[in-house]
Amino acid sequence: TIKKARAGSNGQVNQCVRKDLNKVVDFIDIEDITEKVSLCRCWKSKNWPYCDGAHGAHNKATGDNTGPVVVKHKEN
Ligand code: FES
Repeated sequence: TIKKARAGSNGQVNQCVRKDLNKVVDFIDIEDITEKVSLCRCWKSKNWPYCDGAHGAHNKATGDNTGPVVVKHKEN
């Protein structure tokens, strides 16, 4: 049986990111993060896997409350 997801008009959470792939997986080397990086969790970013602020329009249009995960170095 096909499980139905909870988002998207076709039941898919991911509506636009690399739809030609079977699974979207991203790797970021921790050494490449100089200060901090914001990673998209709404699947609407045009700069995937990074947040480009698209969650704001998504939240406004849907009443959702999505936002990025921010990865940063510990403050000393
Ligand atoms: Fe997706 Fe910001 S654009 S969390």
